[in-house]
Amino acid sequence: MTNNIYFIANWKMYGSTSTLSSLNKLINLSKQKKYNKAKIIYFPPFTLIYNFMNKFKKTKISIGGQNCHHIENYGSFTGSISPKMLKELGCRYVIIGHSENRTAGETDANINKKILSALNKNLKIVFCIGETLKEKRKKITHTILKNQINKGLKGIKNYKNILIAYEPVWSIGTGVIPKHNELETNVSNIRKILSKKTSVKLPILYGGSVNDKNISNLKNIRGIKGFLVGSASQNSKKFIDIIKKTIN
Ligand code: PGA
Repeated sequence: MTNNIYFIANWKMYGSTSTLSSLNKLINLSKQKKYNKAKIIYFPPFTLIYNFMNKFKKTKISIGGQNCHHIENYGSFTGSISPKMLKELGCRYVIIGHSENRTAGETDANINKKILSALNKNLKIVFCIGETLKEKRKKITHTILKNQINKGLKGIKNYKNILIAYEPVWSIGTGVIPKHNELETNVSNIRKILSKKTSVKLPILYGGSVNDKNISNLKNIRGIKGFLVGSASQNSKKFIDIIKKTIN
C-alpha cells in the first residue's frame, strides 16, 4: 500500500460551470510539495466531467464518474454511461455501490457486474459499503459488510485497482459520525474480511458527514487512508481545510 492519503470529492447532483472558478485555490494547494501525498480525486456529475478535465489539466488531480453501467462498451441503455465512455473522457476512477444508488435499487449482483466491467476498462474503483441505521441497531454490521464485500467483489482476480469506502448509511448527509471505537472496529473488521480474499492491502477510506470540523478527530482513526467527502467538498474552502488539517 502506498503512503497516499485519498481525498475524494463527490459532488453528487450538484454543481454548474460557474462553480469551476472556486477550484483555483485547490489547484494551487495540489501543486505544493507539502501535499504531495494527498491524492485528490473529483467526481463531478457526468455533465461537468469535460469541464473538470480542462480545469485540472496539468495538475495531479484526477477525475472519476459517480457511477457507470455494467455493460462495458456501448448498448441501448437510455440515460446510462459505460466504463468505456468514462475512460474515453479521461476518467481514471469510478464510484460503485454508493448507498444512494443501493437505496434506488442497485443490488450486490449489479454492483459486482459494474466492478468487473469497469476493471476491464482499467478504471480504478471506489467501492462503497456500509450498514443502515436499522442494521446497526440490530448489531449485524459485521455480517452486512462481509456480505457486501463478498458479493460485490465476487470473481475479482486483480485487486490492485480497488479502494474501499466505508460509509455508514446513517452517517451520510446527517452530520452524525460514528464513535471513534466503533469506527476503528468496523475498519479493522473490513481489513480482516478483505485479508481472506487477497494479500493486496486495499486502501480503506471513510465517508459520511466528513467536514472541516470533525476531520481533526477522524484523521486519527487507525487504518483509514483517506476520506470520501460529499457536501463539504462542494465548498472549496472547506475541502481545502480538510486536506490541510489531515496533512499538517
Ligand atoms: P456527505 O456525503 O459527506 O455529504 O455525508 C458522503 C457521501 O455521499 O459519500
